[in-house]
Amino acid sequence: MLCPSVKTIMSYRIAPSLLSADFAKLGEEVKNVIAAGADWIHFDVMDNHYVPNLTIGPMVCEAIRPHTTAPIDVHLMVKPVDRIIPDFAKAGANVITFHPEASDHIDRSLSLIREHGCQAGLVFNPATPLHYLDYVMDKIDIVLLMSVNPGFGGQKFIPETLNKLRETRARLDAYAQKSGRKILLEVDGGVKADNIADIARAGADTFVAGSAVFGAGKDSDPHRYDSIVGALRSELAKV
Ligand code: DX5
Ligand code: ZN
Repeated sequence: MLCPSVKTIMSYRIAPSLLSADFAKLGEEVKNVIAAGADWIHFDVMDNHYVPNLTIGPMVCEAIRPHTTAPIDVHLMVKPVDRIIPDFAKAGANVITFHPEASDHIDRSLSLIREHGCQAGLVFNPATPLHYLDYVMDKIDIVLLMSVNPGFGGQKFIPETLNKLRETRARLDAYAQKSGRKILLEVDGGVKADNIADIARAGADTFVAGSAVFGAGKDSDPHRYDSIVGALRSELAKV
């Protein structure tokens, strides 16, 4: 008799990016999107220096912290990074990621994040090579691949990211085999209901979605995110 096929059980995280939320109602936005079934809150920090846009910092992170128990995933698009890491940890961040080009001492910055009790990760721009992972795998909890150039929401997914995801997935799986430690693989930029399944098939397990989620429905409806988060989830169930 043939054995039933064994499907690897993958757990997926949906992380709506606050960049596309209503900044005048962030507490409410966070509550509504988590009530709709999202797992993490993705928190984009831009400094008008490393990227050409300016957003929110530790004070806003601290202000939204009491509104949810969901992990806050801080994506630093700032240069330098070390000065601000302890501030975000104190403000209630759970995950802190940064771009290797923005730190002169990548190993030190990763350690600093962990010393402050957060999970640490590196973010790769579309053209940034993966070799930055080479000597720091043991200090990394999450790898974030940008599928757009950082700085703005609402951009189109760059298809080459699928190849980079497959390559990263292979590295992370090989590392998990060797070390017994699983590193998460997150993707950020242009993720929608019509491409999330392909992105998951290429190896991602954590999905940032900004405009796709916060662009949904009418302002006055507290349940406006239910159907889009449900749609993303049901696409992932097909993988
Ligand atoms: C871009 C940010 C993203 C952005 C994604 O620099 O890092 O998190 O909010 O937005 P969408 O999902 O609209 O591409
Ligand atoms: Zn981001």
